[in-house]
Amino acid sequence: MTKEMIREMIEQNGVQTPCYLFDVDELTDRVRRIQEELAVCGSGLCFAIKANPFLIPALDAVIPKYEVCSPGELEICRAVCIAGKKIIFSGVVKSEEDIRTALAYPVETITVESYRQWQLLKECAAEVDRKTKVLLRLSSGAQFGMERETVLQVAEELKAVPQLVFGGLHYFAGTQRKGCKYEKELPMLAELMGELREKYGADDMILEYGPGLPTPYFEGDSFENPFEGIQNLAAYIAAQRYPFRVNIELGRYIAASCGHYVTRIVDCKTAEERNYCLVDGGIHHVVYYGQNMAMRRPIVHHIAAGEPDGEEQEYMICGSLCTFADLLVRGLPLRNPQIGDWLVFDQIGAYSVTEAAYLFLSRNLPAVYLYSKEKGIRSVRDSVAAWEINAGKLETYVRK
Ligand SMILES: Cc1ncc(COP(=O)(O)O)c(C=O)c1O
Repeated sequence: MTKEMIREMIEQNGVQTPCYLFDVDELTDRVRRIQEELAVCGSGLCFAIKANPFLIPALDAVIPKYEVCSPGELEICRAVCIAGKKIIFSGVVKSEEDIRTALAYPVETITVESYRQWQLLKECAAEVDRKTKVLLRLSSGAQFGMERETVLQVAEELKAVPQLVFGGLHYFAGTQRKGCKYEKELPMLAELMGELREKYGADDMILEYGPGLPTPYFEGDSFENPFEGIQNLAAYIAAQRYPFRVNIELGRYIAASCGHYVTRIVDCKTAEERNYCLVDGGIHHVVYYGQNMAMRRPIVHHIAAGEPDGEEQEYMICGSLCTFADLLVRGLPLRNPQIGDWLVFDQIGAYSVTEAAYLFLSRNLPAVYLYSKEKGIRSVRDSVAAWEINAGKLETYVRK
């Protein structure tokens, strides 16, 4: 989506700001390209919906699997009518009720992250008369997953539960990872898959693998080949000729590039020889992994309501929170920015909409819009009042 398209959209459609604008055509094109690359190694693609659940309906025609990581995420899937056969229900904490709800959905696949989760799953599965696939999450050294011995023990015990089918391993060790960490992880995982296959003889086992492929966000990052990460990974997997399928689980790499954050300049001033633009949004809506006090500069476009004139000058772009931390961009070169102009932040499609610190200062949550050539711009969430959440149950403590 070009800057001109965004200008047209916000001028002609009266969009509320601040808002997120997700370009569905860009998203689905990207997913198709990722899948073309993965065809080289026969891998399927799974979208980790925590990155951006607003994209699920748009993705449904092109994405075969979703990683769904909490009861709330499962409710979103239910609300937008996602078939259970597409769902891998994961999560480091799963209560008995969560597991029961997932089995009743019914999801096709559920992960096990601890021996305690296994015990709960075993009990809950005994109450249903359908089969559910189980992926055992191997620990990468943090709170997630189980150590190798526990994985082997659970795989052994799984044989005794007719409602559960051993489906393979789940592994995710981190996000926005630089370098080819998979060159170390995949041989280790392949070795364990081999042992499991030998002992439990399941031919259709899969390795559900989240490589945490990185996304460029800032000036100086490489935007040249947006598919380099997946090409290299697919080529590596293809060369290994594994006797099992590796499915690739991604969030950021799928969703980041389709998103723009639009915020309006609401005040301009100069103090101590520094120029400031104050915007109606702020850092409570924007999450760029690796950003800290605007030390790096994201890709930002200025859309002037009138004709911008004059020399470029540097501006501090600050949000509407009462904290020094609300600095979105340091020293952004702009030509005569005015109140009413817009600033558009790129690469915002992953995690900003789910991970941002929305409640601080009780300002509203941003509106959300989807855009496609076919359907134009559609509002999928109005701005939401945060104050009501922060006010709590008024009837319990406000005197009438
Ligand atoms: C289990 C799991 N899979 C996949 C992902 C997606 O990671 P990324 O956005 O880096 O692709 C996450 C992110 O936290 C995760 O926890």
